[in-house]
Amino acid sequence: MTFETLRHEGVWFGGDYNPEQWPPAVLDEDLELMERAGITTVTVGVFAWSSLEPEPGRFEFGWLDDALERLTAAGIGVVLATPTASPPPWFSRLHPEGLPVTADGVRLIHGSRDTYNPAAPAYREAAARITRALAERYGSHPALRMWHLHNEYGTVSYGPVTDVAFREWLRARYGDLSRLNEAWNTTFWSQVYGDWRDVHAPQATQYLPNPAHVLDFKRFSADLLLERLRDQVAIVRELSPGVPVTTNFMLPSWNHYDQWAFARELDVVSIDHYLDDPGPSGEVHAAFGADLARSFAGGAPWLLMEQATSLVYDYDGGRMLVKKPGRMRRNTYQYLARGAMGSLFFQWRSPVVGAEFFHSAMVPHFGADSRLFREIEQLGRELPRVAELAMAPTDGPVVDSRVAIVWSADAWWAADTRAMPSADVGFLPAVRRVHTTLWELGVVADVVAPDGDLSRYDVVLVPSLLAVSDRDAAAFADFAHSGGHLAVWHFAGSTDERLHVRQGSYSGAFADLAGVRVEEHVPLRDGERVTLSDGSTAEAWTERLHLSGATAVCAYTDDAHPVVGPGSPAITERPLPGGGRVHYLSTRLAAGDLGRHLGRIVRAAGVEARGFTGLEVVHRRAGTSSYLVAINHSQEDGTLEAHGTDLITGRVAAGNVVVPAGDVAVVRLEENT
Ligand code: GLA
Repeated sequence: MTFETLRHEGVWFGGDYNPEQWPPAVLDEDLELMERAGITTVTVGVFAWSSLEPEPGRFEFGWLDDALERLTAAGIGVVLATPTASPPPWFSRLHPEGLPVTADGVRLIHGSRDTYNPAAPAYREAAARITRALAERYGSHPALRMWHLHNEYGTVSYGPVTDVAFREWLRARYGDLSRLNEAWNTTFWSQVYGDWRDVHAPQATQYLPNPAHVLDFKRFSADLLLERLRDQVAIVRELSPGVPVTTNFMLPSWNHYDQWAFARELDVVSIDHYLDDPGPSGEVHAAFGADLARSFAGGAPWLLMEQATSLVYDYDGGRMLVKKPGRMRRNTYQYLARGAMGSLFFQWRSPVVGAEFFHSAMVPHFGADSRLFREIEQLGRELPRVAELAMAPTDGPVVDSRVAIVWSADAWWAADTRAMPSADVGFLPAVRRVHTTLWELGVVADVVAPDGDLSRYDVVLVPSLLAVSDRDAAAFADFAHSGGHLAVWHFAGSTDERLHVRQGSYSGAFADLAGVRVEEHVPLRDGERVTLSDGSTAEAWTERLHLSGATAVCAYTDDAHPVVGPGSPAITERPLPGGGRVHYLSTRLAAGDLGRHLGRIVRAAGVEARGFTGLEVVHRRAGTSSYLVAINHSQEDGTLEAHGTDLITGRVAAGNVVVPAGDVAVVRLEENT
């Protein structure tokens, strides 16, 4: 990433703006309201393909010319999107083979968005044509601050067009069918391939599919999306040199590409982030999204491309989630504290009708004389006071985390293939549980790739990582032998990268290093709990574990499953000669118990874990200064110890700063404090 290409322009504040949806009178009012709200940046053109290219090769740029001209005159910067996430209806008519096919073999058609097959040459050509046309016309437009390529890459398609591309990908990976047969162990259930024409994307089949086949398909689909991103990056870099490039990652529940690989293509990482819980764990969720974004950005500032002012769809829960007054502001400071350079919203104005017409906006259907718009105005007035916070530090990362959680899209896909021993070994829940617990301990964590720079951290945590290559296993061992503290959870490293189970001990990629041998997995039934010798409650999973170099920190007790047996080690540690330490946790600990054990693990590495008392406190770096950002999520006033100046109130903080209930403080620290 080349974050240096981005000038510091204060905190970016604005949202998705769709002038193509509104008559001139509304556009006039938009500019007036944007000025009132202190909007600095809007994202234009997301999904506007049919308004820009109503027929193939015939462009209508007039409305966009006008919009950009007016925004330029108002001093508002533009993040210009390529509209390629929503091909127009003519695309379906002319290129039916370019439409997506579901795993059940159903070919979809336009009527929503994202109806294309990323493997289809026709889609690739059409997407390149509109991208080129936009980059040629607007590549050096004075309002242009950044390119926003596509929107939330994530479309997966099966079917004949995909099969062709999948076979090419497999040929490049394996060379010949014998190697593919070996990798997928196709002798199981008579799947030995003798002709490439017999290899398909894993569409619906009679019973369980081959997990190695499924995993390779997920890797292929992710690589395909990466190629589509690269197509557009090449075009805009050629025609619009020097303008930074981003695409918005949908976090954290979407997982259709490798976030580390995507981030390497971009100048700025940006994410869309929506609270998934109206209660307090929503705050942890905001921190989680921000920590992911900062880590994918390599510690550089990143952009919050979308958040909601209030109502956000909750498709599973069946009703929308509402933000209480003041929460949007607090959330915004959470993102800023954890490295954001700005906060944009989906969306400036709610559409009169269309999918998501009841999704919240900066300007709600009620109009500007509303609680939501007043909160936006308040935030817009305030953000210039903390402008310096959004700057990139002159050296090092925006937040200096000493603890990292291992994040791997590949491991997520691996755990999502069916036929796992328990529904409780999913990747994301395990990672979130650990992240949440660190948040409660007051520890700001990064995520790191298994093949990333582990040496930046004192503690590396591996809550879930099923498929681990020999090379990655060696890197973890190096980390621990060089003094790092490594904690590995059950099931991690049980297979290699082909999903072949390592023989001799489960968690085989880590077993020698941790000084344990895992003989049997013993998943627990839903709700079943067992007690450990230190009083902790364990759930979901236990193991029959032997020590081979490690010592037991605590053991299973009388209520253990008979296969495990009382006295069998549950949590172990192995100190290494270089000062490193390897922890192994053979079970899932109940929340409070996980907190105690994680506290023990990070403190052993010298990391401070003060715990959470209502104030979320983050130490952020910007320019040559350091800041303490404190967000008070509680109903009671809190106290922050800091020496410096609170940028929001302008007051000098000398010692204890009171952060009123529900409020925030941003203290620029005096040097040497
Ligand atoms: C995503 C999309 C937006 C909108 C929001 C709200 O983040 O990028 O276009 O659909 O979700 O659901």
